[in-house]
Amino acid sequence: MTVTPFWIAGQPETGTTPIEVRHPYDGEVVGTYSHATPDQRERAIAAARDAAEHFAAAPAQVRADACRAASDAIAADAERIASVITAESGKPVQWARAEVGRAVATFGFAAEEARRFGGELQRLDTNAAATGMAALVRRFPIGPVLGITPFNFPLNLVAHKVAPALAVGAPIIVKPAPATPLSALLLGEILSDVGLPDGAVSVLPVPNDEMSAVVADERLPIVSFTGSETVGWSIKDSVPRKQVILELGGNAAALIAPDYDDLGHAADRIALFGNYQGGQSCIAVQRVLVPEEVAGEFLPMLAERVAGLVVGDPRDDRCQVGPVINEDAARRIESWLAEATDHGAVIHCGGTRSGTTVAPTVVSGVDPSVKLATEEVFGPVLIVDTYRDLDEGFAAINRSRFGLQAGVFTRRWDVAARAHRTLDVGGVVIGDVPSVRADQMPYGGNKASGVGREGVASAMLDYTAPRVLVLPDTF
Ligand code: SIN
Repeated sequence: MTVTPFWIAGQPETGTTPIEVRHPYDGEVVGTYSHATPDQRERAIAAARDAAEHFAAAPAQVRADACRAASDAIAADAERIASVITAESGKPVQWARAEVGRAVATFGFAAEEARRFGGELQRLDTNAAATGMAALVRRFPIGPVLGITPFNFPLNLVAHKVAPALAVGAPIIVKPAPATPLSALLLGEILSDVGLPDGAVSVLPVPNDEMSAVVADERLPIVSFTGSETVGWSIKDSVPRKQVILELGGNAAALIAPDYDDLGHAADRIALFGNYQGGQSCIAVQRVLVPEEVAGEFLPMLAERVAGLVVGDPRDDRCQVGPVINEDAARRIESWLAEATDHGAVIHCGGTRSGTTVAPTVVSGVDPSVKLATEEVFGPVLIVDTYRDLDEGFAAINRSRFGLQAGVFTRRWDVAARAHRTLDVGGVVIGDVPSVRADQMPYGGNKASGVGREGVASAMLDYTAPRVLVLPDTF
């Protein structure tokens, strides 16, 4: 099998030892890539540094057109890209297609934002000492970005690092997840042909345990990381003077408010979005909170829907729930379920594992001390719990050390407003699951879930710093 090249400053290269990528569902070899050598990493970093000034000065229309061309090129090759996502991540092809559509939108938003990204004039004569002065406030790129991306959205979460960088004119080096580099490498190929200056984009597979030198490199003043809580915070601690943006985990909750009468709809949405792509999304529903008085009706409804999901080969168009990323992950989920049942939890459906596939599971009576209750499962498991009143329900959501998104099924404005005010999360979704993400909105978490926000316009702020030009009324 030919080795898929990586991209240094827009040029294809390969490294030394070929590494196989295997399909998480059946272990079939689906591609081969190689790691960049230390010399290749050095050349990519030097090229990003060398390109920084020139790229920052590139006209908005050049940056916007490159993002538009990337969006169009992804759209034109959507089916092939979706099959690569499915092959390397095991994501059911229906979700892979959705991910490709989102990446088309992400680059499209970047094309729009690049044109919109201007500046503002601030009056300074609001203070007597500055009478006769005004300030032009514009944002400029802080410098080249290092983007480190996870396996669960191997295209669109790469797009969320790259597109805002291109929109502001910041060179970027992407380090894709070892399990799923092929989609990022394909994106590197696309980006090599959209009219970007040399050095604007590199896509570089590097072993995780060799990343500390790249993270520490002072020529890369911004590190944008999506992945595990432990790695993310250790990056931030290791480079406290850098601009570090972290999109980490969550154990997202969906709460059904006492006023919400369409339990069937809530059960449909929660069943699907607790389990889509094997529950491997930071905003997949993990915790479900229902009023005590409706639990008896809701639990069997939810279990019936979860048991009815189509589980199997992710290449099959009908498949809704595929494997998790590897057998270690599947065994970990299995062991967390065993710990929960040892502490009295009741499984209502699922609870079994076959290879890398964990059956979609609904569980209740979970002791608050066990890992299923306190950690991010990142698997197809829904934990149902009850609450007495909204104070208690919202407090249960906030009890998590994570704070990414929450969903509140209600039709009442006062409940929506109260949820927005009270929940310590980056986003509250009303009338739906916490898994709703539109790629243009700010996205990120509070507490252990991270720092900074993605969503193209928000990331553009994180990648830039304001610089004022103080002007007299008269020259
Ligand atoms: C994530 O897992 O953080 C990303 C979720 C999404 O983009 O839908």
